[in-house]
Amino acid sequence: MDERTLVLAKPDAVARGLVGEVIMRLEKRGLRLCAMKMIWVDEALAKKHYSAHEGKPFFDGLIEYITALPLVAMVWEGPSAIRVVRETMGATNPQDARPGTIRGDMGLDISNNLVHGSDSKESAEKEIALFFEADEIYSWARPHEKYISG
Ligand code: RTP
Ligand code: MG
Repeated sequence: MDERTLVLAKPDAVARGLVGEVIMRLEKRGLRLCAMKMIWVDEALAKKHYSAHEGKPFFDGLIEYITALPLVAMVWEGPSAIRVVRETMGATNPQDARPGTIRGDMGLDISNNLVHGSDSKESAEKEIALFFEADEIYSWARPHEKYISG
């Protein structure tokens, strides 16, 4: 079943010049990029996006980090896209992330872990709506998709 998920190349990915690397890995995996924009997230949007973490000890630092520099927000589509993106990103703490994952190959710090991916269908729907209008998202297919994925 095709799904859509929100991916953020977070401010540290932008600062380190790793946005292309994030995109390349998701493209190579076979997912389809269907929306993308650079945004300097303000405090209000950051708090909505991370509302599930409000009250946790790392919350203030998380909001500061995600609003520190612009980030690149994307919608990716494909079979089991939500799970596939999370597995391609690796564990939340890059020190636990397996080599071969984005965080496992390029990170070491849980507070600066390069990428975000929605963690469920419900969060994907909510998060995509926070970052994109419906008419900014394009569905498309590869002509010979059946021979290359799914
Ligand atoms: P994300 O939401 O950014 O995709 O990351 P995630 O699902 O893998 O991790 P989550 O538990 O949702 O945590 C959200 C973000 O908060 C920061 N964090 N810091 N210092 C800490 O203990 C801590 N724990 C989480 C990370 O930036 C994490 O991605
Ligand atoms: Mg999360």
